[in-house]
Amino acid sequence: MEDVIKGKQGKLLTTDQNIVHYSSTSSGMENVSAVRNIKSLQDSTYQKIPILFRQAVNDIPSTTHGTFSVYQYPAKFIPQVIAYVLKHYVPPADNQRSIIFDPFAGHGTTGIVARVYGHHYVLWDLNPFLSIIHDTAIMKPPKVFVSDLLYDLTRSKPDEFVPRWKNLEYWFPEEFLPLLERTWGYVHSLPTYQEQLVWYIPLIKVTRYFSWADEKVHKLYKSKRSKKKIKDLLESDWKKKFFILLERELSTLLTKLQQYQALKPHDDVNATVKSGIDVMETCLDSEVDVMITSPPYLQAQEYIRSTKMALYWLGYDDHQVQALSKKEIPYRKFEPINIHSDLFHKYRSQIKDEHLVKLFDCYFHSVLGAFTTLSKKVTSLLAIFVSPATIRTRQIPIDDIFIQHLEALGWKHDVTYIDTIKARSMFEAKVNPASGLQDKRMETEHLIILKKE
Ligand SMILES: C[S@@+](CC[C@H](N)C(=O)[O-])C[C@H]1O[C@@H](n2cnc3c(N)ncnc32)[C@H](O)[C@@H]1O
Repeated sequence: MEDVIKGKQGKLLTTDQNIVHYSSTSSGMENVSAVRNIKSLQDSTYQKIPILFRQAVNDIPSTTHGTFSVYQYPAKFIPQVIAYVLKHYVPPADNQRSIIFDPFAGHGTTGIVARVYGHHYVLWDLNPFLSIIHDTAIMKPPKVFVSDLLYDLTRSKPDEFVPRWKNLEYWFPEEFLPLLERTWGYVHSLPTYQEQLVWYIPLIKVTRYFSWADEKVHKLYKSKRSKKKIKDLLESDWKKKFFILLERELSTLLTKLQQYQALKPHDDVNATVKSGIDVMETCLDSEVDVMITSPPYLQAQEYIRSTKMALYWLGYDDHQVQALSKKEIPYRKFEPINIHSDLFHKYRSQIKDEHLVKLFDCYFHSVLGAFTTLSKKVTSLLAIFVSPATIRTRQIPIDDIFIQHLEALGWKHDVTYIDTIKARSMFEAKVNPASGLQDKRMETEHLIILKKE
């Protein structure tokens, strides 16, 4: 049984259960084994192709392979999305190296994948954690045994490191703090950044385990489960458990580093990573070829709040963390722009709640404001990954709003890929903090491809 999806430009795309589709959008004729039928897509104005990115690229064994997932960053790209764009829309690096740009890089997946394909890259994010994750992910595995690392830690007599965080005692039982402060003191005292990198992510994970925060929720949240976790820990030999977990996390990191290096990432690519910057206040110094990005979500996501425990232990203080939170989209002050999308205005006019109108405005004016400026320096392709969020149960076609605006700026929509996402922990929150309403699970994510006219 064959589905036919007719797009805006009149191209005919076919998909069937046997998984073949032909599209003039990619390099030549594609056999994409991940294509699925989603009949409702036929209603859309723009050309849309259903796909399962996690199965569409064979070069990468799994979504969490190697350092593509060295940390569970909220709303992280799966590496296959980037790999798909690079393989199908960007000339191979042997002929010509491209510069790939991600202004909302988060975990840095765009760069970590671009390096494997031999492309240069530029990564930005408000979250300073980007640099630590990226630098860890691309690091050559150090020639050390985990047991030696732990031996050096236990023999050392470092100064304690006390995070400058007014809520420290709220998030950590007082019994655990001396051990954590001593271990972090040791890591901060290591002589080189490379030596510190080996420890940062493993220790951040174990530190979080020894806090009142629930492991399964990105934002800091004391739950029944996490209270039980602490009670059980306190009744056990928790010091022993601390070192066992640390050993496990260090070993996992070393394995992941080896897996990544086995993919033969290129050492000679130019990488520019700017973290802790505000996209609204930062300019591209020179042109880039491709922008691949996934902007912040319209609802239910606060990246700084989700990662602030790590930031405090890395040395950021209350003042710095608050300053970062204030710049986060869509909870910030913004400069209104001219939004070229009738869909934007139509959906905005239907929102009655003032607070939600503010959120809606901030989101689109900030993200499209950034894209308006940045896209002027992109020479060939925009690949933008978004989720269609809901406001008061009404689904907002974020992807189509983006397309309308960017087409008015001279970009040409090529295709939108619709991926069905697997259950993700970031959507576990039952109530959306923005609206106070039940969150509708986002079931698809959309990758918009636009080319320069
Ligand atoms: C959907 S996430 C990107 C995830 C990323 N694709 C990955 O693979 O991890 C959106 C990112 O936008 C960042 N962000 C939010 N407001 C920002 C701002 N004003 N300037 C720069 N980045 C911002 C957040 O810190 C977050 O990392």
